[in-house]
Amino acid sequence: MIVYPSESRPNDIYKLMIGSITPRPIALVSSISKTGIFNLAPYSFFTGVSANPPAIGFSPLITGKDKTRDSRNNIEETKEFTVNIVSEYLVDRMNVASSDVPPEVDEFALSQLTPKHANIVSCPLVKESLINMECRLIEIVEVSNKLLGGAFILGEIICFHIDDDVVENFKIDPNKLNTVGRMGGSSYTRTRDRFELVRPEVKKADA
Ligand SMILES: Cc1cc2nc3c(=O)[nH]c(=O)nc-3n(C[C@H](O)[C@H](O)[C@H](O)COP(=O)(O)O)c2cc1C
Repeated sequence: MIVYPSESRPNDIYKLMIGSITPRPIALVSSISKTGIFNLAPYSFFTGVSANPPAIGFSPLITGKDKTRDSRNNIEETKEFTVNIVSEYLVDRMNVASSDVPPEVDEFALSQLTPKHANIVSCPLVKESLINMECRLIEIVEVSNKLLGGAFILGEIICFHIDDDVVENFKIDPNKLNTVGRMGGSSYTRTRDRFELVRPEVKKADA
């Protein structure tokens, strides 16, 4: 099957993407509106971008006419957000936080997750997450303002909060963090079934 996006329906292309780009990590993103309302929502179009300085990016899509996500609107206004890592025990509350509710609804209260003061940014951390990242906006790269188009929000991590139980000498214990990944549709995957694969060592030819 050959698919040319220019000749296809955006919703079909979206289905191809979420089924192919798997598993996707989940960023539970908090932000704050300029009137001080907290916002929380999961994003799985999410990735690390740089480690020096540490930077991450995620993509809020456009889902209706001129309908940009509250997270994006807040970040455009305040230039700050946090990313909170989703362990398996948080999935139900993360899912509630994904409800498409109006901007005046605080998804922390809705999902019964606890807002915790951050050290630098003004939006709260998710207290129940084992790892939180305070981020300052670098840039919003607008790809398209069409339906299912969107933007890439690029942010610098300016502070990590890591539960002491899951880290030793900067190495995160995956059994303790126990993250989940997003698959296509409403599917998720656990991260317990892992294997090791050491990268090949290329010997330098003798001079
Ligand atoms: C696991 C998960 C991942 C999601 N990933 C994305 C995503 O990458 N981009 C997006 O626009 N919406 C995504 N959504 C949907 C948003 O979380 C949802 O529309 C939310 O209400 C947006 O909130 P906001 O308007 O407060 O930012 C995802 C939902 C779930 C449950």
